[in-house]
Order: sequence, then C-alpha cells, then structure tokens
Amino acid sequence: MNETIQHSLTYKKYVIDDNLRYFKPHSTKIEKTFADEIFSSLNRDSKYINPKFFYDKRGSSLFEKICDLPEYYPTRTEIEILKNLKSDLSQFLDDSFRLVELGSGSSTKTRLILDIFAKIQSSIEYFPIDISEILTESSELLQRDYPDLEITGIIDTYEGGLEFIEKYDDKKNLIIFLGSSFGNFTPKEGKIFLQKINSIMKNEDLFLIGLDLVKDKKILEDAYDDAQGITAQFNLNVLSRINDELDADFVLNDFKHIAKYNEKDQRVEMYLKSLVNQSIIISKANLSLKLTEGELIHTEHSHKYEISQIKELMDETGFNIKQNWLDVNNHYALTLVSKK
Ligand code: AVI
Repeated sequence: MNETIQHSLTYKKYVIDDNLRYFKPHSTKIEKTFADEIFSSLNRDSKYINPKFFYDKRGSSLFEKICDLPEYYPTRTEIEILKNLKSDLSQFLDDSFRLVELGSGSSTKTRLILDIFAKIQSSIEYFPIDISEILTESSELLQRDYPDLEITGIIDTYEGGLEFIEKYDDKKNLIIFLGSSFGNFTPKEGKIFLQKINSIMKNEDLFLIGLDLVKDKKILEDAYDDAQGITAQFNLNVLSRINDELDADFVLNDFKHIAKYNEKDQRVEMYLKSLVNQSIIISKANLSLKLTEGELIHTEHSHKYEISQIKELMDETGFNIKQNWLDVNNHYALTLVSKK
C-alpha cells in the first residue's frame, strides 16, 4: 500500500482553501473517558488529577493570563531567546525545511520562528499538530498575518500526528515543542515521548525544545503562586470543570491552591488541599469521594533541568545537541537537536 493511500484511509482531509487544510483521523483511538480517568485517579490513597484536564475554555484563558503575569517568567524568557535567535537558527535551516509544531501556536513564538523561515524561504509550509479543534482557530489567525503560508493542520494526538508526518513525504522537518510543556510529563513519560520523536525523525530533521532550568526556589514558587491568584484560579478551575462535566459537588472554597518546589526531584508540585473533612459526589464517574482536612490532591508537576541533565536526557533518547540557547539570566533553554 503506498503512503498516500494509507493516509487517505486513516485520515479525513478537509480543504479550506489553497493554503489551508486539515487532516483528522476517521476514528479516534479508543481512549479512556474523562469520567474513567477521574474515577481511577481519585479513587485511591494518593489522589491526583491529570494536568491535561486544566485546559477547558476557562482553563485555557486562565493559562493565557498566567503567561503574562510578572512572576511567570517562562513565556517571556522563551520569547526573549527566540527574538535573539535569528541567524543562529537559520544557519541550520535551508529552503527544504517545513515547520512542524507540537501544539497549535497562534502565539508570538510561532510567529518569531515563521519570521526566521521567511528570511530563507519564499513559501513556507507549517504543520501544527493538536488534539483540540482550537487548532482551526489558531491556523485561521495565522493565515490572516501570513497569507502565503501553507498550513496543514493535523487534529490528532502528538503521537498520531508524528506518525502522520513520518509517512507524509521526504521533506525535512524542523519539529518544535515550546513553552516547557515537556516539564509536565513524568520523567518516564518524557523519555518515551522523546524516543517517539526520535523514531519518526529522518536523519536531516531537527527538533527544537524549550525547557525550564533549575533556579532559585523563591522565583520558582512565586511563578506558580502569583500575587493576583490567577494560578490558584487555574488550579481550582479543574474542580469546576469536574462539577460541570461530571455532575459533581466540589465547593471550591473548601480547597486551597498549593505550589511547592521539590528540590530533590527538581519540580514545582501543585496540589489542591482540602481545608475540611468532606464528602464529594461525582455522579458521572460513579464516585463518592471522602477527603480529610489537610489531604492533598496532586494536580501538576513542572520539572526543571540543569543543562548537564538536558545533555544526558538527549543522549539517552538518541539525540545529538546541535546548540543550546539561554537567556541572560540562565533561567530557560532552547535546545536544538538532531538524530544521532
Ligand atoms: C503548560 N505548562 C508548561 C505550564 C508549566 O509551567 O508547567 C502550566 C502551568 N501551571 C501553572 N502555571 C503554569
């Protein structure tokens, strides 16, 4: 079976115009539902909620506010590095590369990289991969500012989208994964993810990843517990989401947002702490939950790295580091790698 036929069997193609199309799998893989996941992650002694559930409509808009907070340095620091990249990155590219982004960026960051491409290419191809249909909104916004950009959106999981790219054609890819989102994986998930990227890459492909670095504990804890309480709202919003979507009766005032830096494991840990002994019914997950005063529900890990650990991690997962770019304070790294 040739690749084109294989794609057309598993993905449906939606052509919007000459420069914009989407691919979406005919049928999504069997994934656990929100209710199943909440049941199994809360019906246990050490309770947790997967951070991927933060991002409903309100959660996504709270996250955008977080990115602009004075305490939350990662976004503006990554932008600062990208603004300084220019020829430093373009020396690794030529006119046969396309840009593949894990996550759908309409953001400043995607635009900064597209501007670097625009200096060396007359027509740029951009393939965003995102499970959320938000991808269509962000692609249309980008199209407004870059009318000649050829956008192929893949509405699928990162793994599915990467496999799509692997089979698509022989063009070289610069794959980008920005925003230190990698830090939200557990170390084990992170390694599997990097191995997956490595396994679909051609020898000439490049991968650019944004990683947050270990730094002063106070800077880290303030970044995840800001003075305006936006991160607290973001954390607590996951309970509102469970209330709305799974018919539950969490009272948000009975919980407190906690963010602590765990120096040993090099990660900021976020929790929701129960302020009272309480029972919660989550009807659609068939769960009656009991929490004692002081009990913690773990909601997120955000891992921080030393440069030497980035090198080790890349080495173990089959990559060679081409270059690391850091900001003036050494708070954040953009790492460009190729396959070994
Ligand atoms: C999306 N992710 C990289 C953010 C982080 O910094 O771990 C999520 C976040 N959580 C609280 N503030 C920001």
